[in-house]
Amino acid sequence: MNFISIKEAMQKGTGEVSIRGWVYRERKSNKFGFIVLRDATDIVQCIIEKDKVSEKIWADMEKILIESSCEIHGTIHPEKRAPTGFEIAVSEMSVVSFAEPFPINKDQGTEFLLNERHLWIRSRYMTSILKIRSTVFQAIREYFCSKGFYEYQSPIFTDVQCEGGSTLFQVDYFGHPVYLTQSWQLYAEAGIFSLEKIFTIAPSFRAERSKTSRHLTEYWHAEMEVAWCGFDGMIEYGEGLIKHVVNSVLERNREELKILKRDPAKLKPAIEKPFKRITYDEALFLLKQKCKLEIPWGKDLRTIEEDKLTSLFDAPVIVTRYPKMIKAFYMREDPENPDVVLGSDFLLPEGHGEVIGGSEREPDLEKIKERLKAQGEKLENYEFYLDTRRYGSVPHSGFGLGVERLVSWICGLENIKDAIAFPRTMLRWTP
Ligand code: 4AD
Ligand code: MG
Repeated sequence: MNFISIKEAMQKGTGEVSIRGWVYRERKSNKFGFIVLRDATDIVQCIIEKDKVSEKIWADMEKILIESSCEIHGTIHPEKRAPTGFEIAVSEMSVVSFAEPFPINKDQGTEFLLNERHLWIRSRYMTSILKIRSTVFQAIREYFCSKGFYEYQSPIFTDVQCEGGSTLFQVDYFGHPVYLTQSWQLYAEAGIFSLEKIFTIAPSFRAERSKTSRHLTEYWHAEMEVAWCGFDGMIEYGEGLIKHVVNSVLERNREELKILKRDPAKLKPAIEKPFKRITYDEALFLLKQKCKLEIPWGKDLRTIEEDKLTSLFDAPVIVTRYPKMIKAFYMREDPENPDVVLGSDFLLPEGHGEVIGGSEREPDLEKIKERLKAQGEKLENYEFYLDTRRYGSVPHSGFGLGVERLVSWICGLENIKDAIAFPRTMLRWTP
């Protein structure tokens, strides 16, 4: 038999078709059996009439349970009452594997669904998210490749920190303590001297003790680093990337957004308008004026402040020039004000938080050494990094984008855990 996908069968609309997949729903009476079959592309209703099929097929129909896999041959026709507008009158059906009673049924709690994650990813909800996630990965690659970037990889085991020691996962590496990487950045800064414009999509690890709806311990990090690029150039790449990704999802995943009940209008401003850029100082001013939140200068913006701030905008907003003391050691000191750095965070609307953290990199070797020492780091571990400032240093900038944060916002998810097939958080490392 020549199998086609359910989507292709519905596009054909009439005539004989062979499809295969899994039982999404089933129901039977004395004379009729109904199976809604699903495959990766869609679902379709199939009707089995007792008098029109063999005894074996009818006996199988009586035994078949949800998630059984089967192959179906029949005639497709439009049917208004069917869930996707088509129905297949079955002439042949062969069950590939009878399923045991499926543990997941309606209205089950979040923790139960996380325990049964390997089965729950078959749901239309999770399948829709995973398809959008796939578009996001593809669109990130398209964007960087179209701008002349090379894809470049850094190690996962490292013996240095990049984003502060408090969120490092330590691993026993043949008796030596090493860490799972928090970011490719330090190795990317070495890489620009050979490739100039580079990007990656790779896992990053953070031993985050926070149980928020936006933190994972293992997440996918899309990062870029560019030689001869200043602060504004880096921000333009970040904005261009988000616009391209959102546009790609709107073009390719309308059906999935509909299944997720995500209103595309919420995403439109991000592609239609330039992102607003405000300084940290302006952010504090807005928080005070419009949200009645008074933050002392020098304090980082917490979840609550980010949420209040972003509720004032319908597209991502870019906050720049944060106080130096709350940002990483590699961010360039603003030549016009040594108390702030040329670093920026891109904040997503609707409470999805920071999606991009980026900066121009500090060119001054001595300043980097001072800031590392102030953090209690041993300079000898950073020799490979310090060499980037010793041998032909050039102005350069880069950023990292949290893929699950972006997927979470695009899909309108309540929790970042649903933006990845098998989430890892402080309290969950299985299945
Ligand atoms: O702001 P972060 O810590 O920046 C860096 O790691 C830089 N070294 C990146 C660079 O310049 N190459 O992390 C970047 C982004 C954040 O904006 C956020 O979207 C995401 O990574 N992120 C997380 N996503 C999910 N769970 C977590 N625990 C995350 N921590 C950071
Ligand atoms: Mg950050």
